[in-house]
Amino acid sequence: MEITLTAIKADIGSIGGHLAPSKAILNRVKETIGAEKSNLILDHFIGHTGDDIAILLVHDRGEGSEAVHRLAWDAFQAGTAVAKEQGLYGAGQDLLKDAFSGNVRGLGPAVAEMSFTERENEPFLLFTADKTEPGAYNLPLYLAFADPMYNPGLLLSPTVGKGFTFTVMDVSHTEGDRVIELSTPEEAYDLAALLRDNGRFVVESIHSRADGEQAASCCTTRLRNIAGKYVGKDDPIMLVRTQKTFPATGEVLAPFEIGHLVAGFMRGSHTGPLMPVKEGTGVSFFDGPPIVSCLAFSLHNGKLTEPVDAFDHPYWDWVRDNIARKAHDIRAQGFSGPAMLPYADLEYGGITERMGKLAERFHCR
Ligand code: 13P
Ligand code: 13P
Ligand code: MG
Ligand code: MG
Repeated sequence: MEITLTAIKADIGSIGGHLAPSKAILNRVKETIGAEKSNLILDHFIGHTGDDIAILLVHDRGEGSEAVHRLAWDAFQAGTAVAKEQGLYGAGQDLLKDAFSGNVRGLGPAVAEMSFTERENEPFLLFTADKTEPGAYNLPLYLAFADPMYNPGLLLSPTVGKGFTFTVMDVSHTEGDRVIELSTPEEAYDLAALLRDNGRFVVESIHSRADGEQAASCCTTRLRNIAGKYVGKDDPIMLVRTQKTFPATGEVLAPFEIGHLVAGFMRGSHTGPLMPVKEGTGVSFFDGPPIVSCLAFSLHNGKLTEPVDAFDHPYWDWVRDNIARKAHDIRAQGFSGPAMLPYADLEYGGITERMGKLAERFHCR
């Protein structure tokens, strides 16, 4: 059976600033999706990471299905109505357009989709991150799919060892989708040269070179490019199929122990380490740190098992302690140097205005 996984994520309002959605809006989103009785979807899951709600839909309508996207859009609209009733902060924040126009891409929510013929057993991972940008997945994906230091399967498994093809998007190109395909191991250095720039080049998908099957799908939305101005970070969502010709689940998870420094954090304008957290975790310290959660599912005949929370394990408690230290270390230098993002990536216009005024007062001696 050809199945499509559609994962859509949006911030439609949160309690106490940008911390976490209310139970009432989560429930309204769940009720709206749960009320769908027309056989449009085969199964679904709804959760939250930080202030973003993620909707996972399993169906057989293919990618970009208008009916499926409309269902998610309607659920976010229904949740936004409750957010407004409750006076939540940023009610409807990521729904940038008033009307649905066939597909949620370009309307604000983050989307990751993947279609495939179900394997006999179909393990996959749903990643959702808050207070960061889509390029935050670049390094973990590179290490999990192209580096034998993190993925011993590249050495041990003849199929995984055939390598992978990465499709990378230039997200600063707003006139259309500017993409490139690069295959590892041969083009690993070219790939690294692009992926070092998380704000510009983002992994969109990864395919196995052993069987051509799609392993990963990541969102490439940049809200800034949609709205033309700051409306929140692009808090990204990602789907990864694991095992057999793909990396093992543990190989995909392993690079998240680094807590690599990403863009986001307070006001979407700082640098902070990406902390792997349990699903349903809010944010706190300095509107952060940037967080990522991962739910593991198995899929069979279009039905999901209950999720296993991949970062809910004593090992990750130790990782989180280390990453908290890293967050503390970079925060200690406040606005200085790499702690705050460079001008082009600052999500607020205030500093540009300030610099404009100061420019008038500069004089050459
Ligand atoms: P099991 O023997 O527990 O199935 O594990 C196989 C494996 O390769 C884990 O990475
Ligand atoms: P969100 O994009 O998660 O809403 O965060 C915005 C922000 O400015 C946090 O400080
Ligand atoms: Mg928010
Ligand atoms: Mg958010």
